[in-house]
Amino acid sequence: MSINDFPAGSSSASTGVPLTKVTMPAFAEMKRQGKLISSLTAYDYATARLVDETGIDMILVGDSLAMVVLGHENTLAVTVDEMLHHTRAVSRAVRRALVVADMPFGSYHGTVGEGVANAVRFVKEAGAEAVKIEGPRVELIRALTEAEIPVVGHLGLTPQSVHRMGGFRVQGRSADAALQLKAEAHAVAEAGAGALVLEGVPREVAAAITAELSIPTIGIGAGPDCDGQILVFHDLVGLSFTPAAKFVRRYADAGALIRTAVEHYREDVEHRTFPSDEESYHLPEAARKALDSVGTERKT
Ligand code: KIV
Repeated sequence: MSINDFPAGSSSASTGVPLTKVTMPAFAEMKRQGKLISSLTAYDYATARLVDETGIDMILVGDSLAMVVLGHENTLAVTVDEMLHHTRAVSRAVRRALVVADMPFGSYHGTVGEGVANAVRFVKEAGAEAVKIEGPRVELIRALTEAEIPVVGHLGLTPQSVHRMGGFRVQGRSADAALQLKAEAHAVAEAGAGALVLEGVPREVAAAITAELSIPTIGIGAGPDCDGQILVFHDLVGLSFTPAAKFVRRYADAGALIRTAVEHYREDVEHRTFPSDEESYHLPEAARKALDSVGTERKT
Protein backbone atom coordinates (compact mmCIF):
# COMPACT_ATOMS: atom_id res chain seq x y z
CA MET A 1 0.00 0.00 0.00
CA SER A 2 1.35 3.43 -0.90
CA ILE A 3 1.42 6.01 1.87
CA ASN A 4 -1.15 7.91 -0.19
CA ASP A 5 -3.71 5.13 0.06
CA PHE A 6 -6.46 5.00 2.64
CA PRO A 7 -6.83 1.66 4.47
CA ALA A 8 -7.27 -1.35 2.19
CA GLY A 9 -10.73 -1.77 0.75
CA SER A 10 -11.61 1.87 1.34
CA SER A 11 -13.82 3.37 -1.28
CA SER A 12 -16.26 6.20 -1.62
CA ALA A 13 -19.52 5.44 0.18
CA SER A 14 -21.79 5.98 -2.81
CA THR A 15 -19.74 5.35 -5.93
CA GLY A 16 -17.05 2.85 -5.03
CA VAL A 17 -14.39 5.24 -6.40
CA PRO A 18 -11.05 4.06 -4.89
CA LEU A 19 -9.74 6.44 -2.24
CA THR A 20 -6.23 7.15 -3.48
CA LYS A 21 -5.45 10.58 -2.07
CA VAL A 22 -4.93 13.23 -4.73
CA THR A 23 -1.83 15.32 -4.12
CA MET A 24 -0.20 18.20 -5.93
CA PRO A 25 2.59 15.96 -7.33
CA ALA A 26 -0.16 13.66 -8.66
CA PHE A 27 -1.39 16.56 -10.82
CA ALA A 28 1.93 16.75 -12.67
CA GLU A 29 1.78 13.00 -13.24
CA MET A 30 -1.82 13.28 -14.50
CA LYS A 31 -0.69 15.88 -17.03
CA ARG A 32 2.16 13.62 -18.18
CA GLN A 33 -0.32 10.75 -18.64
CA GLY A 34 -2.90 12.96 -20.39
CA LYS A 35 -5.47 12.35 -17.62
CA LEU A 36 -7.80 15.32 -17.29
CA ILE A 37 -8.31 16.94 -13.88
CA SER A 38 -11.88 17.47 -12.66
CA SER A 39 -12.42 20.17 -10.07
CA LEU A 40 -15.24 21.99 -8.42
CA THR A 41 -15.76 24.47 -5.62
CA ALA A 42 -17.35 23.55 -2.29
CA TYR A 43 -17.85 25.61 0.83
CA ASP A 44 -19.44 23.35 3.45
CA TYR A 45 -19.31 19.83 4.87
CA ALA A 46 -22.35 18.35 3.10
CA THR A 47 -21.56 19.48 -0.43
CA ALA A 48 -17.83 18.83 -0.04
CA ARG A 49 -18.62 15.31 1.04
CA LEU A 50 -20.93 14.67 -1.91
CA VAL A 51 -18.45 16.20 -4.36
CA ASP A 52 -15.55 14.19 -2.92
CA GLU A 53 -17.50 10.94 -3.04
CA THR A 54 -18.00 11.35 -6.80
CA GLY A 55 -14.23 11.24 -7.36
CA ILE A 56 -13.63 14.91 -8.26
CA ASP A 57 -9.85 15.48 -8.13
CA MET A 58 -9.63 18.98 -6.65
CA ILE A 59 -12.01 20.85 -4.36
CA LEU A 60 -11.46 24.59 -4.20
CA VAL A 61 -12.86 26.52 -1.28
CA GLY A 62 -13.22 29.47 -3.61
CA ASP A 63 -13.61 33.07 -2.57
CA SER A 64 -16.65 32.88 -4.88
CA LEU A 65 -18.34 31.90 -1.61
CA ALA A 66 -18.57 35.66 -1.04
CA MET A 67 -21.10 35.76 -3.89
CA VAL A 68 -22.84 32.38 -3.98
CA VAL A 69 -22.99 31.70 -0.22
CA LEU A 70 -22.79 35.12 1.44
CA GLY A 71 -24.66 37.18 -1.18
CA HIS A 72 -22.00 39.84 -1.90
CA GLU A 73 -21.80 41.48 -5.33
CA ASN A 74 -18.19 40.43 -5.90
CA THR A 75 -15.48 38.46 -4.10
CA LEU A 76 -13.71 41.37 -2.41
CA ALA A 77 -15.48 41.44 0.95
CA VAL A 78 -14.79 37.92 2.19
CA THR A 79 -12.26 37.78 5.06
CA VAL A 80 -9.50 35.38 6.04
CA ASP A 81 -11.52 34.28 9.08
CA GLU A 82 -14.58 33.53 6.93
CA MET A 83 -12.47 31.58 4.43
CA LEU A 84 -10.83 29.64 7.27
CA HIS A 85 -14.24 28.77 8.72
CA HIS A 86 -15.45 27.29 5.40
CA THR A 87 -12.12 25.60 4.61
CA ARG A 88 -12.30 23.76 7.96
CA ALA A 89 -15.77 22.46 7.13
CA VAL A 90 -14.62 21.24 3.72
CA SER A 91 -11.44 19.62 5.09
CA ARG A 92 -13.52 17.66 7.61
CA ALA A 93 -15.53 16.17 4.74
CA VAL A 94 -12.90 15.40 2.13
CA ARG A 95 -10.94 12.15 2.04
CA ARG A 96 -9.71 11.91 -1.55
CA ALA A 97 -9.64 15.24 -3.41
CA LEU A 98 -6.88 17.84 -3.11
CA VAL A 99 -8.29 20.61 -0.88
CA VAL A 100 -7.25 24.06 -2.08
CA ALA A 101 -8.06 27.23 -0.14
CA ASP A 102 -8.50 30.47 -2.04
CA MET A 103 -6.56 33.32 -0.43
CA PRO A 104 -9.04 36.22 -0.16
CA PHE A 105 -8.50 39.76 -1.39
CA GLY A 106 -6.13 41.68 0.88
CA SER A 107 -4.58 38.60 2.49
CA TYR A 108 -1.55 38.52 0.13
CA HIS A 109 -1.50 42.00 -1.35
CA GLY A 110 0.89 43.47 1.23
CA THR A 111 4.35 42.09 1.96
CA VAL A 112 5.44 38.60 0.95
CA GLY A 113 5.84 37.83 4.67
CA GLU A 114 2.20 38.70 5.35
CA GLY A 115 1.10 36.55 2.42
CA VAL A 116 3.09 33.57 3.68
CA ALA A 117 1.78 34.04 7.25
CA ASN A 118 -1.82 34.06 6.01
CA ALA A 119 -1.23 31.00 3.81
CA VAL A 120 0.27 29.14 6.79
CA ARG A 121 -3.02 29.72 8.65
CA PHE A 122 -4.95 27.93 5.89
CA VAL A 123 -2.69 24.89 6.16
CA LYS A 124 -2.27 24.86 9.94
CA GLU A 125 -5.70 25.94 11.14
CA ALA A 126 -7.97 24.69 8.35
CA GLY A 127 -6.34 21.64 6.76
CA ALA A 128 -5.78 23.13 3.29
CA GLU A 129 -3.31 21.18 1.15
CA ALA A 130 -2.58 24.08 -1.20
CA VAL A 131 -3.55 27.72 -1.59
CA LYS A 132 -4.67 29.59 -4.69
CA ILE A 133 -3.59 33.14 -5.39
CA GLU A 134 -4.62 35.44 -8.23
CA GLY A 135 -2.18 37.24 -10.51
CA PRO A 136 1.47 36.79 -11.49
CA ARG A 137 2.85 37.24 -7.93
CA VAL A 138 6.04 35.35 -8.57
CA GLU A 139 7.91 36.48 -5.46
CA LEU A 140 5.09 35.27 -3.23
CA ILE A 141 4.70 31.98 -5.15
CA ARG A 142 8.42 31.35 -4.71
CA ALA A 143 8.24 32.13 -0.97
CA LEU A 144 5.19 29.88 -0.47
CA THR A 145 6.89 27.05 -2.32
CA GLU A 146 9.96 27.49 -0.12
CA ALA A 147 7.63 27.40 2.91
CA GLU A 148 6.36 23.97 1.71
CA ILE A 149 2.94 25.30 0.74
CA PRO A 150 1.80 24.11 -2.69
CA VAL A 151 0.37 26.90 -4.84
CA VAL A 152 -2.29 27.01 -7.53
CA GLY A 153 -1.87 30.13 -9.68
CA HIS A 154 -4.80 31.97 -11.26
CA LEU A 155 -4.49 34.17 -14.36
CA GLY A 156 -6.77 35.76 -16.95
CA LEU A 157 -10.04 37.07 -15.55
CA THR A 158 -9.04 37.35 -11.91
CA PRO A 159 -12.20 38.40 -10.03
CA GLN A 160 -10.26 40.15 -7.24
CA SER A 161 -9.06 42.63 -9.94
CA VAL A 162 -12.65 43.53 -10.90
CA HIS A 163 -12.11 47.25 -10.34
CA ARG A 164 -8.84 47.37 -12.28
CA MET A 165 -10.38 45.38 -15.16
CA GLY A 166 -13.54 47.55 -15.14
CA GLY A 167 -15.83 44.55 -14.71
CA PHE A 168 -15.70 40.79 -15.22
CA ARG A 169 -14.21 40.80 -18.72
CA VAL A 170 -12.55 38.13 -20.85
CA GLN A 171 -8.78 38.77 -20.83
CA GLY A 172 -6.02 38.18 -23.39
CA ARG A 173 -8.09 39.12 -26.44
CA SER A 174 -5.44 40.99 -28.42
CA ALA A 175 -2.13 39.54 -29.63
CA ASP A 176 -0.24 41.74 -27.15
CA ALA A 177 -2.50 40.77 -24.25
CA ALA A 178 -2.22 37.09 -25.21
CA LEU A 179 1.59 37.30 -25.27
CA GLN A 180 1.55 39.04 -21.87
CA LEU A 181 -0.67 36.28 -20.46
CA LYS A 182 1.66 33.59 -21.82
CA ALA A 183 4.67 35.31 -20.24
CA GLU A 184 2.83 35.52 -16.90
CA ALA A 185 1.87 31.83 -17.10
CA HIS A 186 5.51 30.85 -17.63
CA ALA A 187 6.61 33.08 -14.74
CA VAL A 188 4.01 31.57 -12.37
CA ALA A 189 5.06 28.01 -13.33
CA GLU A 190 8.77 28.82 -13.00
CA ALA A 191 8.16 30.34 -9.55
CA GLY A 192 6.90 26.94 -8.38
CA ALA A 193 3.10 26.83 -8.81
CA GLY A 194 1.85 23.25 -9.11
CA ALA A 195 -1.16 24.08 -11.27
CA LEU A 196 -2.63 27.14 -12.97
CA VAL A 197 -6.27 28.19 -13.18
CA LEU A 198 -6.99 30.04 -16.43
CA GLU A 199 -10.24 31.96 -16.20
CA GLY A 200 -12.07 33.89 -18.93
CA VAL A 201 -9.48 33.68 -21.69
CA PRO A 202 -9.88 32.80 -25.39
CA ARG A 203 -9.67 29.07 -26.10
CA GLU A 204 -6.69 29.57 -28.43
CA VAL A 205 -4.66 31.35 -25.73
CA ALA A 206 -5.48 28.72 -23.09
CA ALA A 207 -4.55 25.95 -25.55
CA ALA A 208 -1.17 27.54 -26.31
CA ILE A 209 -0.37 28.03 -22.60
CA THR A 210 -1.44 24.45 -21.85
CA ALA A 211 0.83 23.10 -24.58
CA GLU A 212 3.82 25.12 -23.37
CA LEU A 213 3.65 24.53 -19.58
CA SER A 214 4.66 21.35 -17.78
CA ILE A 215 2.22 22.09 -14.93
CA PRO A 216 -1.47 21.43 -15.56
CA THR A 217 -3.85 24.23 -16.52
CA ILE A 218 -7.36 24.15 -15.10
CA GLY A 219 -9.82 26.13 -17.15
CA ILE A 220 -12.98 28.03 -16.34
CA GLY A 221 -14.27 29.85 -19.38
CA ALA A 222 -11.02 28.94 -21.14
CA GLY A 223 -12.20 26.24 -23.56
CA PRO A 224 -11.76 22.47 -23.66
CA ASP A 225 -8.02 22.25 -24.33
CA CYS A 226 -6.89 22.82 -20.73
CA ASP A 227 -5.59 19.92 -18.62
CA GLY A 228 -8.67 20.13 -16.41
CA GLN A 229 -11.80 22.13 -15.73
CA ILE A 230 -13.34 23.85 -12.71
CA LEU A 231 -16.82 25.26 -12.12
CA VAL A 232 -18.57 26.90 -9.18
CA PHE A 233 -20.72 24.25 -7.47
CA HIS A 234 -23.77 26.53 -7.24
CA ASP A 235 -23.65 27.24 -11.00
CA LEU A 236 -23.39 23.54 -11.85
CA VAL A 237 -26.45 22.53 -9.82
CA GLY A 238 -28.63 25.60 -10.47
CA LEU A 239 -28.37 27.29 -7.09
CA SER A 240 -27.10 30.70 -8.25
CA PHE A 241 -29.31 33.72 -8.59
CA THR A 242 -27.38 35.71 -11.21
CA PRO A 243 -27.49 35.05 -14.97
CA ALA A 244 -25.07 32.26 -15.82
CA ALA A 245 -21.89 33.04 -17.78
CA LYS A 246 -21.50 31.53 -21.27
CA PHE A 247 -19.14 28.82 -20.02
CA VAL A 248 -21.45 27.47 -17.29
CA ARG A 249 -23.14 24.15 -18.00
CA ARG A 250 -25.96 23.53 -15.56
CA TYR A 251 -26.25 19.81 -14.79
CA ALA A 252 -29.20 20.02 -12.40
CA ASP A 253 -31.88 22.38 -11.17
CA ALA A 254 -31.41 22.02 -7.42
CA GLY A 255 -33.12 25.39 -6.94
CA ALA A 256 -36.39 24.02 -8.36
CA LEU A 257 -36.01 20.80 -6.35
CA ILE A 258 -35.53 22.70 -3.09
CA ARG A 259 -38.36 25.14 -3.83
CA THR A 260 -40.82 22.27 -4.52
CA ALA A 261 -39.76 20.36 -1.39
CA VAL A 262 -40.12 23.43 0.84
CA GLU A 263 -43.50 24.35 -0.69
CA HIS A 264 -44.82 20.84 0.03
CA TYR A 265 -43.53 21.05 3.61
CA ARG A 266 -45.18 24.44 4.17
CA GLU A 267 -48.52 23.14 2.80
CA ASP A 268 -48.30 20.02 4.98
CA VAL A 269 -47.66 22.14 8.09
CA GLU A 270 -50.56 24.47 7.22
CA HIS A 271 -52.92 21.49 6.69
CA ARG A 272 -51.66 19.60 9.78
CA THR A 273 -50.63 16.69 7.56
CA PHE A 274 -47.07 16.96 8.87
CA PRO A 275 -46.08 15.32 11.12
CA SER A 276 -48.21 12.19 10.92
CA ASP A 277 -48.88 9.84 13.81
CA GLU A 278 -46.09 7.56 12.49
CA GLU A 279 -43.69 10.50 12.61
CA SER A 280 -44.54 11.18 16.28
CA TYR A 281 -43.09 9.68 19.48
CA HIS A 282 -45.56 7.82 21.75
CA LEU A 283 -45.74 7.17 25.46
CA PRO A 284 -45.22 3.52 26.46
CA GLU A 285 -48.56 1.84 27.22
CA ALA A 286 -48.01 1.79 31.04
CA ALA A 287 -47.07 5.47 31.18
CA ARG A 288 -50.08 6.37 29.06
CA LYS A 289 -52.43 4.44 31.37
CA ALA A 290 -50.85 6.04 34.47
CA LEU A 291 -51.21 9.46 32.95
CA ASP A 292 -54.84 8.76 31.97
CA SER A 293 -55.67 7.61 35.52
CA VAL A 294 -54.15 10.77 37.03
CA GLY A 295 -56.32 12.75 34.64
CA THR A 296 -59.42 10.74 35.69
CA GLU A 297 -58.64 11.22 39.45
CA ARG A 298 -58.37 14.97 38.97
CA LYS A 299 -61.76 15.10 37.27
CA THR A 300 -63.51 13.14 40.11
O1 KIV B 1 -13.42 31.43 -6.24
C1 KIV B 1 -13.62 30.64 -7.17
O2 KIV B 1 -14.63 29.96 -7.22
C2 KIV B 1 -12.59 30.56 -8.21
C3 KIV B 1 -12.76 29.75 -9.43
C4 KIV B 1 -11.56 29.40 -10.15
C5 KIV B 1 -13.91 29.03 -9.76
O3 KIV B 1 -11.58 31.16 -8.06
